[in-house]
Amino acid sequence: MSFASADNLLDLVEKIIQLKRERDAVILAHNYQSHEIQFVADYVGDTLSLAMLAKNVKQHIIVFCGPDFMVETAKILAPHKTVLYANENAKCPMAAMITREELKTMKEIHPDAKVVGYLNTSAECKCEMDVCCTSSNAVKIVTSLNTKKVIFVPDQNLASYVKRFVPDKEIIAWPGFCTVHQMIQRSDILKLTKAHPHAKILIHPECTPDVVDLAHVVLSTDGMLKYVANSLEKEFIVGTELELINRMMEDNPGKKFYPVEKAFCRTQKKIKLENILNALEILEPRVSFSEDVIERARHPVEKMLAFGRGD
Ligand code: 13P
Repeated sequence: MSFASADNLLDLVEKIIQLKRERDAVILAHNYQSHEIQFVADYVGDTLSLAMLAKNVKQHIIVFCGPDFMVETAKILAPHKTVLYANENAKCPMAAMITREELKTMKEIHPDAKVVGYLNTSAECKCEMDVCCTSSNAVKIVTSLNTKKVIFVPDQNLASYVKRFVPDKEIIAWPGFCTVHQMIQRSDILKLTKAHPHAKILIHPECTPDVVDLAHVVLSTDGMLKYVANSLEKEFIVGTELELINRMMEDNPGKKFYPVEKAFCRTQKKIKLENILNALEILEPRVSFSEDVIERARHPVEKMLAFGRGD
């Protein structure tokens, strides 16, 4: 899809806003979506806040600007709503790193373990979980479990971050990872620290443990936005996807932000204004699962929502 010119961009934005009103639809967008997508969205947030919103918004049509697993989670939580993928091809590589069958095998090997699954998984996979989590509440949820053994899928980096808080638990991690956060290296953060020695270092828990070791604070994307807004500090190194610093700069004009330039999520950036307009026009592509999958997957997702935020 080619990039829209400025006139075309304005035209697209107007059409989307008008059609959204006519259809009484709501647009949800993740914090990594590009600026123009965030502009037309009714709500922008992290994985957890968008899941909560999907369940609670009054509108019956949701256009979800985020990777496949976020859109599908919205349908699981709001099965009677029409949930539209802004772009069905925006598929999270990490969510595809484990299948339901693989998780079932893990459960057979460790029958005494509870299964905690990152929301970044397929709906099928969620059917095999005891409770889901996001970067905001993973520590809170694993800490609350009364079992010693925990299967944690699919992000090995988040699993390793959680383990720091529960040294007595045995965490059996699946070797998955976020392709964007995996790109951020210790040397990238050290280079930024050398150039900006007074900056606070914010790191997302999907980063590798050696990068997490350099953090002053480890937070979800909404957690980072809140932290920066409330902090008296003036400079921040931001160890997550590049887009987040645009919101930070807009919301905090007196502060300075230093991103890791290569941390760009191609998956999320597949979503364009044209996709949103198309989805609103034809009310496709919509998420659809069997009743059985929705019923089974809803249990761990609802259980996670009951924990609320952890940051
Ligand atoms: P949060 O926005 O929930 O922190 O997660 C970021 C992310 O990497 C989504 O896959």
